[in-house]
Amino acid sequence: MRIVDLLIEDVAFGGKGVGRAEGKAVFVPFTIDGERVRARIVREKKQFAEAKLVDVVEPSAHRVPPPCPYFGRCGGCAYQHIDYEHQLTIKSRQVRDVLERIGKIRDLPLRPIVPSPDDYDYRNRITVHVEDGVIGFFRRDSHRLIDIERCPISREEINRALAGLRAQKPTNGHYTLRASPSARVFSQVNEKVASALCDLIRNLVPANQQLLIDAYCGAGFFAKALLDKFERVIGIDWDKFAITAARENATEKEIYIAGDVAAELTRANLTALSGQVPAAIKMSEPAARTLIVDPPASGLSAETRKAIVDLAPGTVFYISCNPATLARDLKKLQETFAIESVTPLDMFPQTAEIEVAVHLRHKGLVTR
Ligand SMILES: C[S@@+](CC[C@H](N)C(=O)[O-])C[C@H]1O[C@@H](n2cnc3c(N)ncnc32)[C@H](O)[C@@H]1O
Repeated sequence: MRIVDLLIEDVAFGGKGVGRAEGKAVFVPFTIDGERVRARIVREKKQFAEAKLVDVVEPSAHRVPPPCPYFGRCGGCAYQHIDYEHQLTIKSRQVRDVLERIGKIRDLPLRPIVPSPDDYDYRNRITVHVEDGVIGFFRRDSHRLIDIERCPISREEINRALAGLRAQKPTNGHYTLRASPSARVFSQVNEKVASALCDLIRNLVPANQQLLIDAYCGAGFFAKALLDKFERVIGIDWDKFAITAARENATEKEIYIAGDVAAELTRANLTALSGQVPAAIKMSEPAARTLIVDPPASGLSAETRKAIVDLAPGTVFYISCNPATLARDLKKLQETFAIESVTPLDMFPQTAEIEVAVHLRHKGLVTR
């Protein structure tokens, strides 16, 4: 297919640089805004085209040599060719762009992105796949595997575990390697940024809060870290193993429910119900209720959004790993809640992933 000369104007959410050829947007992976490149068009649609980088004609001052030999072929990282400061700038801009464009949020209260103290050597968990002797990750844009001996964004303990696994010549399947083998359930992948996220929420929780509902709680990461700020906490997750782990060291203040968030929140809203959860909710004033939602990338269902509006918590923290579904959900939630602040966090340096924490306040309630 044809070759085009492009000026890369931006790096879109997902990690591809965007230039224009004859007015049409052309997406080119592994390029940086400000660069002049030559690229081969590999797919052409009506609205846009996809292209493969042929040559960087004028490199960006932010271009750096990627340290990983698999970079470009492995599906994990997208930004190893960009210096860390600029990765942060790009991610922050992407959050603004997606929330303004899809979420239609005006006067976005965007705070500075929280960087990761470690831009490599941070992952405490990876899942590797084994197929016919190949041990590694999925290739970019493919279901085939790439054999991996070392992953530089993973911690040293993980790389030792990977070497150990490779030495065992494992059978076909999926293997999750953890820096701390005791953590069997969902745990935050970058502990230092997760801890910064907890501090951020802690500083934003209003005084005199009675109830925290930690929805999509996993093993209760937020509920446990913020326990001292509340009289009671309720965690909800449909992963029974995670709930069992949360209950293991739970205090009297904590209740963990294994169930679907939409169903449990809807049930909890029915004041006619008896039981621990409705009682805890009934006993709390709406303004003294805080809700944390940390859903998977698909975000919140319409049913969950409705249950949140009916629950009417004074404060909501929406922790998102997907700015696009976050934008869709905020567009609806902002009818009831005011967006107080939006903070991107770089939980996954070198990758195109972005974590965002949004602080929402109920418009109809006065928090003390
Ligand atoms: C992004 S993780 C959040 C984990 C937790 N907040 C933490 O920090 O460890 C999403 C969690 O949502 C749970 N989950 C996904 N969909 C759910 C649903 N509809 N109802 C209940 N839990 C759900 C998963 O089991 C997973 O533990």
